Amino acid sequence: MARIIAGVTSSHVPAIGAAIDNHRTEEPYWKRVFSGFEKSKEWMAKVKPDVCIAVYNDHASAFSVEIVPTFALGCAAEFPPADEGWGPRPVPVVKGHPQLAAHIAQSVILDEFDLTVVNKMEVDHGLTVPMNLLFGSPKEWPCPVIPLAVNVVLYPPPTGHRCFMLGRAIRKAVESYPEDLRVVMMGTGGMSHQISGPRAGLINSKFDKAFLDNLSKDPKKLMRMPHIDYMREAGAEGIEMVMWLVMRGALDDKVDEVYRFYTVPASNTAVGHIILANRAKSAKRKPVAKHKRAAARAKVDRIRS
Ligand SMILES: [Fe+2]
Repeated sequence: MARIIAGVTSSHVPAIGAAIDNHRTEEPYWKRVFSGFEKSKEWMAKVKPDVCIAVYNDHASAFSVEIVPTFALGCAAEFPPADEGWGPRPVPVVKGHPQLAAHIAQSVILDEFDLTVVNKMEVDHGLTVPMNLLFGSPKEWPCPVIPLAVNVVLYPPPTGHRCFMLGRAIRKAVESYPEDLRVVMMGTGGMSHQISGPRAGLINSKFDKAFLDNLSKDPKKLMRMPHIDYMREAGAEGIEMVMWLVMRGALDDKVDEVYRFYTVPASNTAVGHIILANRAKSAKRKPVAKHKRAAARAKVDRIRS
């Protein structure tokens, strides 16, 4: 059986990607940001997930304003990079997991939770920057990634409650997948920032830190927070944080906070990051007998055919 072992959230500031791509990570300004992810990379290298599900938002790279799905699940075999501003980043193509993605789509939609199934999609800094922060800059990403794009760019975005419940539905889907896979949920975006208008450059550390506290210990409080509170307290683009609730909904009610990092500013935003692990199950890989793995794979093949 597949299971979600942990959740990781991180900001996806595009300037972080530009700093990586232009070899500026050792500059004092950027070193402060990148040093906060060293422990996270060590943690990820130790945990070695079989699959990641990355909840992020597209910034008009894959979807124009003509079509903006509320929740779009990437079911393709691969997702090439694309981006606004600096153009496509020089990062590896993201390899998907079409079998698990199709299974999630089936389970979640039949559970009356509608998703848009996307069989061709490019992914931008919303997904690739957190990948760098958590995996470094390898030639190939170390595990398949299923992208889940959430609309937070065109009103109305989904509510925090809806995002949390989607996380719950994804968890149920993952746990009904027969192959023994250890899955890490990623949530990206935020934290407080506003990129235009009179409040451009807004950062609210008090709000951000309280959000991290609640995400860890009392996520139900965040489920009830209306959009206007995100906008008022965390800036217009702070609404991206609603995506972190998809990650949180996929975890146990009580979790262990493994690590947290927060720094300001990076570009004109606050950078926040947290790692939460499910308590009930060990993050260590359980040995599975060869014949059980073969039987699980055969079951997956039967489902596919
Ligand atoms: Fe963003």
